Amino acid sequence: MSVQTSAIVDDFARRLLGWYDRSARVLPWRIAPNSGGVPDPYRIWLAEVMLQQTTVAAVTGYFARFTARWPTVADLAAADDADVMAAWAGLGYYARARNLLACARAVVADHGGRFPDSEAGLRALPGVGDYTAAAVAAIAFGRAAVVVDANIERVIARYRLIETPLPTAKREIRAALAPLVPADRPGDFAQALMDLGAGVCTPRSPACAICPVTADCRARGRPDIERLPVKPPKKAKPHRHGVAWWIERDGAIWLTRRPDKGMLGGMRALPGGEWTDARAAESGIVSVDHGFTHFDLTLALVRREAPPQAGDAAAEGMWWPIADLDAAGLPTLYRKLTDKMLERDI
Ligand code: ADE
Repeated sequence: MSVQTSAIVDDFARRLLGWYDRSARVLPWRIAPNSGGVPDPYRIWLAEVMLQQTTVAAVTGYFARFTARWPTVADLAAADDADVMAAWAGLGYYARARNLLACARAVVADHGGRFPDSEAGLRALPGVGDYTAAAVAAIAFGRAAVVVDANIERVIARYRLIETPLPTAKREIRAALAPLVPADRPGDFAQALMDLGAGVCTPRSPACAICPVTADCRARGRPDIERLPVKPPKKAKPHRHGVAWWIERDGAIWLTRRPDKGMLGGMRALPGGEWTDARAAESGIVSVDHGFTHFDLTLALVRREAPPQAGDAAAEGMWWPIADLDAAGLPTLYRKLTDKMLERDI
């Protein structure tokens, strides 16, 4: 690397970290810059898993409840699957909650309760992908890993004017970022880029006037800056339909658990039929529309009088008091449906 390039590279990290020292968000899993605090790998890992595909605002309450109830990885490893699934309800992507438990148990069983401190060691844990391994290695263990999430992708695509559409652009973005990662403070560096993406280099109307790296940003001043990173063309999502059953007796309704494999696997649920491409024959008392990653679903609620019979697919389950439905750990899809039903009932 030429002297000039290396100066620019160091300067990028220096300006970014200077800005972070002044403006870092205060977050429950974060060690404030220059505070001398020691990161807890368990809390860092838990936050990073929760934060995938959702926002800091959505995660904060879940993080507080999880860490109060399961303060260490050993506590989480010893938890009941059903309790963890119920505590995760509402965060979505439920396979991640199952992997979370598998990972906690692997850390306890195979690593004496301590997270591996390298990117490769972390990557070998169940449910830990490239992003989580890099983020935990950098933030919890000070490894100079290249951390790329959606916010960082946007910052770097703009800074280097990478106009290749995603996901093809990912390689270029990673290659552009790798030489910018400083050997000291790589965890703060990653989090600074996340904060920059969340609060300054935003998808719409980026605040270039207050950006610490605007001077050499190649997209600065371009009227089409919001186009970056270039997204792939949107695929049309299929639309599915389903029916759920409201079986009520003595102030309780019948709840089942979804099969471990498949959508909302292992989560508590209302009983019902398969979700299919065909519009349901019965029109429900109420219905909700819900977007999953790969399809949209319209789920109609139908009253059924008969309690489930042995041999019925819904026979495995329990009567759950309607007054206590908040504690059932229903995923958002079913929460929306029961909320609508109960509002209607009032
Ligand atoms: N998004 C994902 N990980 C994050 C972190 N550590 N800090 C802020 N936002 C994040």
